[in-house]
Amino acid sequence: MGRVAIVTGGTRGIGRAICEKLRDEHGATVVANYAGNDDAARAFSQETGIATVKFDVGDHAAAQDGCRKVEAEHGPIDILVNNAGITRDGTLLKMDYDDWNEVMRINLGGCFNMAKALFPGMKDRGWGRIVNIGSINGQAGQYGQVNYAAAKSGIHGFTKALAQEGARFGITVNAIAPGYIDTDMVAAVPEPVLEKIVARIPVGRLGKAEEIARGVAFLCSEDAGFVTGSTMSINGGQHMY
Ligand code: CAA
Repeated sequence: MGRVAIVTGGTRGIGRAICEKLRDEHGATVVANYAGNDDAARAFSQETGIATVKFDVGDHAAAQDGCRKVEAEHGPIDILVNNAGITRDGTLLKMDYDDWNEVMRINLGGCFNMAKALFPGMKDRGWGRIVNIGSINGQAGQYGQVNYAAAKSGIHGFTKALAQEGARFGITVNAIAPGYIDTDMVAAVPEPVLEKIVARIPVGRLGKAEEIARGVAFLCSEDAGFVTGSTMSINGGQHMY
């Protein structure tokens, strides 16, 4: 029987690809968290057979309760992939406090809330894998994304700090910094803006969700026990960091 994994924001885009990869490559019992889109979650479960659990990762109490519920049903969670994230793009001049706060609350606060729920059990069992999905835009910044870039940059700092705390307990904590991947989130970028971005990607195309999932699967493997506190950039060469 494989380990139990939870992937936040796991029913669509990169999260969905991660769920499928962890199931197929590690034989893990995977549970996909989602926050709002019931139709997408239902379709995901029907198509993949993977269970879902609905809660807002940015809500501290809901994340604790959600994780306990999953553990009661499926067993202790040894693999956490913090993938859930939203964008509220706009220049600072047009961005309001809610746009700032929601992105910080969900994208960065979600990582804290989930780790807070699951790190103690991983510590007690002496084994854990935490993979946080950062972003090229947290490394390089991006016009129109002070909220998102700050949250994603925060994820990279969070990763390195928690990696230091987890090492003695057999818990590795790593980040992946995806570039522009062919998902609904990137499709929401206005066409002319996206064309200019793709023109700056040396590989000459958007990435595929599966290409991020492969990196996650490696970081969650037994073989990756000596890899911790690292950031794997998967961005087609757009930013070499
Ligand atoms: N650098 C400098 N100037 C820029 C610029 C840039 N990168 N991008 C735009 N500008 C300039 C424009 O040329 C324009 O100047 P003029 O008025 O002199 O022509 C001015 O800024 C306003 O630009 P827009 O017309 O685009 O402004 P807007 O208010 O309509 O839209 C925006 C602003 C919402 C930020 C829009 O530019 C946008 O959506 N940009 C893309 C942001 C982005 O890349 N988001 C990533 C989403 S995917 C993701 O986040 C996943 C991941 O991890 C990679």
